[in-house]
Amino acid sequence: MLRFLTAGESHGKALIGILEGMPAGLKIDIKDIDKDLKRRQEGYGRGARMQIENDSANILSGLMRGVTIGSPIALMIENKDFCIDNLPAVTNPRPGHADMAGILKYGFKDARCVLERASARETAARVGIGAICKILLAEFDIKILSRVLMIGGAKTESSMKEKIDEAKKSKDTLGGVFEVMVKGVVPGLGSCAHWDRRLDASLAQALMSIPAIKAVEIGNAIESAGKPGSKVHDEIFYSKEKGVYRNTNNAGGIEGGISNGEDIVARAFMKPISTLMDGLNTVDINTKKQVKASTERSDVCAVSAAGVAGEAVTAFVIAKVFLEKFGGDSISEVKRNYKGYAAGLKM
Ligand SMILES: Cc1cc2nc3c(=O)[nH]c(=O)nc-3n(C[C@H](O)[C@H](O)[C@H](O)COP(=O)(O)O)c2cc1C
Repeated sequence: MLRFLTAGESHGKALIGILEGMPAGLKIDIKDIDKDLKRRQEGYGRGARMQIENDSANILSGLMRGVTIGSPIALMIENKDFCIDNLPAVTNPRPGHADMAGILKYGFKDARCVLERASARETAARVGIGAICKILLAEFDIKILSRVLMIGGAKTESSMKEKIDEAKKSKDTLGGVFEVMVKGVVPGLGSCAHWDRRLDASLAQALMSIPAIKAVEIGNAIESAGKPGSKVHDEIFYSKEKGVYRNTNNAGGIEGGISNGEDIVARAFMKPISTLMDGLNTVDINTKKQVKASTERSDVCAVSAAGVAGEAVTAFVIAKVFLEKFGGDSISEVKRNYKGYAAGLKM
């Protein structure tokens, strides 16, 4: 089973990811991981923190001469801004963050004990893990892409940038929508037989686990909900050249919890960044007086960075279900299983 764990705080020494279950024999080029780490740091509207960090992965285990050996892969991304023990206490919790709920949950007197781990900086480790999963999927010609569809109501690149400039000027923040697409997936990944193995459910859970993602849509689900079935369901056709095919993909490549061979399309809806430079109303946990919320260094908008994290968690989910179906201890064994199945698909 493919699984991973991350560790690390926003201003701790490093972010760590451990990926277990990757077959032996996969060549890993660190450049592929670093490219995605860099993409996560970019995007119009990112804050000053991303100018301090220059993320790159250091692989500590699981490889020999750059090739996986079937053991857990540990990767580390060092924080340049390592100062966790010297940061001031936060007693004015920020609305929209884990601060207040975390203080109540753990009995802390300092929201920093919560926010350091709750921070989306953790997604750097997930992007590293996802990049390794992408390398596996690329062996089978599966590609994962993302794009920003909307920011603060704007849908073109120039108007999105304008919206971000306006928000920055007025010390406000924005959210938006990104789309993740998986190309080259064979039919048959996931399951219609078990609630927790439905591919759409697994993808939704993974995307919702990215901080600030509050809704996930598979295919054209939102629009489809207001249409009759005759305008929604992707009719099935057959030709000798193409085999079974569809002319539409409203289902987003998943039917009954199983990939159907079309591109998998998921959209994630991100709420506006919670830290506002003017500070929202909150309560000081010591004095109980009404005060303004803490203003950590912060992004104005991070939808494109969230999209890179979206690619990463999608890559993990697809790699996991892929290995569930075709799994073996080595890449050559997985390839053999995959080839046999793909040959049997021809109608
Ligand atoms: C890539 C990325 C960057 C983020 N950057 C910030 C930020 O700079 N400031 C902030 O307040 N929230 C940021 N967020 C969102 C918060 O991490 C998130 O809203 C918060 O942890 C509370 O979690 P929730 O929104 O899922 O409830 C970011 C999210 C992502 C995915």
